[in-house]
Amino acid sequence: MRILFAGAEIMPFAATGGLGDVLGALPPALASRGADVRAVMPLYSAVGREWRDKMKKLAEFTVRLSWRNQYCGLYSLKRKGVTWYFIDNEYYYARERLYGEYDDGERFAFFSAAVIELMKQTGFYPDVLHLHDWQAALAAVYLDREKKNGGFLGTKCVFTIHNIEYQGHFDPFLLGDLFGLGEEEGRILTWNGALNLMKGGIAAADRISTVSPTYSRQILTPEFGKGLDPILRDSSFKLRGILNGIDTELYDPEKDPAIAVRYSAEDPSGKRACSAALRAEAGLPDRDCPLFAIVSRLASHKGLDLAVSAIRGILNDTDGQLVVLGKGETALEDFFRSLEREMPDRVRAMIVYDRELSRRIYAGADILLMPSRSEPCGLAQMIACRYGTVPVVRETGGLADSIRQWRQLPEGGYEGNGFTFRDPDPAELYYAAKGASDLWYRPKERALLIESMMTTDFSWDRSAEEYLALYREAAGS
Ligand code: GLC
Repeated sequence: MRILFAGAEIMPFAATGGLGDVLGALPPALASRGADVRAVMPLYSAVGREWRDKMKKLAEFTVRLSWRNQYCGLYSLKRKGVTWYFIDNEYYYARERLYGEYDDGERFAFFSAAVIELMKQTGFYPDVLHLHDWQAALAAVYLDREKKNGGFLGTKCVFTIHNIEYQGHFDPFLLGDLFGLGEEEGRILTWNGALNLMKGGIAAADRISTVSPTYSRQILTPEFGKGLDPILRDSSFKLRGILNGIDTELYDPEKDPAIAVRYSAEDPSGKRACSAALRAEAGLPDRDCPLFAIVSRLASHKGLDLAVSAIRGILNDTDGQLVVLGKGETALEDFFRSLEREMPDRVRAMIVYDRELSRRIYAGADILLMPSRSEPCGLAQMIACRYGTVPVVRETGGLADSIRQWRQLPEGGYEGNGFTFRDPDPAELYYAAKGASDLWYRPKERALLIESMMTTDFSWDRSAEEYLALYREAAGS
């Protein structure tokens, strides 16, 4: 089986979120099962020297976008059994940020067109082209066009939705002038009067997947579908939900070089030193109390409005402390900064995106708050478990599929790996957080929960098999 992955970010080269984690970990998991896997992303300035030094330049060609002919350099390196390709064009990718630029439509249309050109240039015609999120979705439409002209007949397309909140909407004028497409493709891409790249990916792909079974059902409803639910209902025959894993080598408290003291499920005692180190780094007094954490993009669909309402009550009634890590909406950034000013010996707001710091927080915190209103999969809750930090999550999307409420069994013993609540209600968050904190004050039971969390299997093994089955199904379709 030959597979080409395409997406806007890949760990460890350049990433800002969960998408990068998945695209960094799933290809090696598939390669270790014997597949010929390659993956492609833009060569942003954020891709560091240590990787550029390892790259080989394979080719140089031009990519057409309507009337534009743009330079494209193709670089590659091998790592973990996978060939990683990088699309170079400094005009598009030598920017400070990966996205959020005024011309993202053009930057990713170029990327999508370059993915098609890459296959022609390298002669790598995969059985499956696996595209991720709106930034790569246009490649599904370009592939379709190639097929109508008799090319790529052996290549099927799988499109994965990592988050339906971000769809890539553009003015209809760009169809011909930028994307270089005609009326027929216009029908595939148009949705509610605009061009919608995610809709195009859904319509053009042979199979669609999303990152948890629960989310795959939720996006069929108006509440979660963000306007795309009608087209997803029509396409539900080709939609699957496959729960993400995490990179269990990268996120491993036994080996993680970023944390103060290493520890394991058999002997988690090092976690105490990690907490002390985190408090020191955050400038919080080292007290014997539960340390809460929020590690999240500061966006409203992450349910942080619930945290805004409940957090003072939680901190006061548990005698707890809080560290916040993440960037995002100004109102939320301001709230956590002002909470820090209000409770300087209890709260520290770190309004940055910092992966190593995030791992020191997973290791040093006791309880992770994740009250998401919607959560396609969520990785933080799994990473928290791996580091023995109790996730307090709302039962939605992948949170519902990965975290089970800790409870005492009638026949004796316990089960579960976190605390969960059902409705997006600050009171429910408060009681779940309070439950996790009460347990923190019962060290014997806490040790049992820590063991249960740290030994939950969040590896890619199961999901990689499910993706292979999906590829086989697509290839046979
Ligand atoms: C997006 C989603 C997140 C998911 C990640 C990886 O960032 O918001 O829930 O875990 O993609 O699939």
